[in-house]
Amino acid sequence: MKDTVRIGVIGLGGRGRGNLGELLGCEGVVVPAVCDKYEDRALEGQKIVLEKTGTAPDVYLNYKELLARDDIDAVMCCTTWITHARIATDAMRAGKHVGIEVGGSASIEECWQMVRASEETGKFCMLLENCCYDRNEMALFNMVKQGIFGELVHLQGGYQHDLREEISLGREDRHGRLFNFQHRNGELYPTHQLGPISKVLSINRGNRFISLVSMATKSRGLNGWIKNNKGEAYDLVDYHFNQGDIVTTMIKCANGETVVLTHDCCLPRPYSRAYRIQGTKGIYMEDGGTIYLEGVSHEDSSHWTHVWEKFTEDGYRDKYEHPLWKKYSEEGIHAGGHGGMDYLVLSAFVESIKLEAKPPIDVYDTATWMAVTALSEQSIAIGSAPVPFPDFTNGMWIDREPYRRGIFCLEEVCNDCFEE
Ligand SMILES: NC(=O)c1ccc[n+]([C@@H]2O[C@H](COP(=O)([O-])OP(=O)(O)OC[C@H]3O[C@@H](n4cnc5c(N)ncnc54)[C@H](O)[C@@H]3O)[C@@H](O)[C@H]2O)c1
Repeated sequence: MKDTVRIGVIGLGGRGRGNLGELLGCEGVVVPAVCDKYEDRALEGQKIVLEKTGTAPDVYLNYKELLARDDIDAVMCCTTWITHARIATDAMRAGKHVGIEVGGSASIEECWQMVRASEETGKFCMLLENCCYDRNEMALFNMVKQGIFGELVHLQGGYQHDLREEISLGREDRHGRLFNFQHRNGELYPTHQLGPISKVLSINRGNRFISLVSMATKSRGLNGWIKNNKGEAYDLVDYHFNQGDIVTTMIKCANGETVVLTHDCCLPRPYSRAYRIQGTKGIYMEDGGTIYLEGVSHEDSSHWTHVWEKFTEDGYRDKYEHPLWKKYSEEGIHAGGHGGMDYLVLSAFVESIKLEAKPPIDVYDTATWMAVTALSEQSIAIGSAPVPFPDFTNGMWIDREPYRRGIFCLEEVCNDCFEE
């Protein structure tokens, strides 16, 4: 195992800068190079590294020049949605492992390019899906693996986040989302809940997504926000945004489960990923923080009704806390971005680089989760018809090589790995 790893960082918008600070908090990480196509942002990245480490990294405006260096082990890419896959592919072909921020794919072809680059070079590509490491998601993963919900039947989740301001001001703030909402119509941001859902369903390891269908509503939210906040004279006030305000996607799995995803970023609403896990023994719902388990939860016999309990207040989360969260809570590190999950996903990435070993989210997971975006666009474009889901493993999902066990493993809870 390497003590030190050298990681180049590409893309220094808000997320890239936040991740950079977090990455430098991981033991043994050196950042010798940073890159953004905007010079001021690249220089901001340089400043973060200088202030934290006392050494200024080299600055690049062209990511290919950063990739040409031979003293970098891996790259963290936090650019825009339509650039992640090509930068990931170029990074692997330049001999670097790569971690990419979340987002959907622009095409199915680019997903295949990532898979082929990883298979041909032996370099890994890890989607940095932090929500797989969130505290509730990990406790629920632990419960699923212990069979508490019985056999899984149906899962739901979504990205439900009022981003009207961030999207609408994309040009002023040089932010990447706006152009996607102008021109595309689909499940643009599938992975935050699809990641944890895929891991509890063992997708690409004995199970797989086989088909998908998406439906989009009309688009009203962005125009309304622009009118109220930028005035009638603003040029986008009557713009016809292609992206529907709510996009609903249904996915069918080879083992018979269904998944429903909701993309909901253009209407006023509190944040929720609306996680729902339903199996033969019970149900969990993020909205309301409720859980019901047959034979465990309280029954109201006078009304013959099953009664909801609270996931945290009634002690379920504590009882089934994932050992990774126990460890980090005890060590007091969970004050980082998004309550600790950012630190954990980056630690998992760094561990895989140090060990030169398979990451807990591999290129097949990355391609599968990102593919939902291009597939949902296709489905909507042809009248919400079902579209087949590619098998990026080329049949290996029924007989995969073993995964790597460890504290960051997302295939099983490796309790023994936490024993000192
Ligand atoms: N996991 C999370 O919780 C989380 C949170 C926020 C954002 N994100 C994701 O992180 C990514 C970045 O988000 P953001 O809000 O910082 O977006 P942003 O649009 O503000 O920043 C992207 C940056 O990438 C740069 N860039 C784009 N193409 C480039 C190229 N070819 N070479 C070099 N630099 C390039 C842009 O100049 C910009 O500075 C997005 O994919 C977003 O979805 C994830």
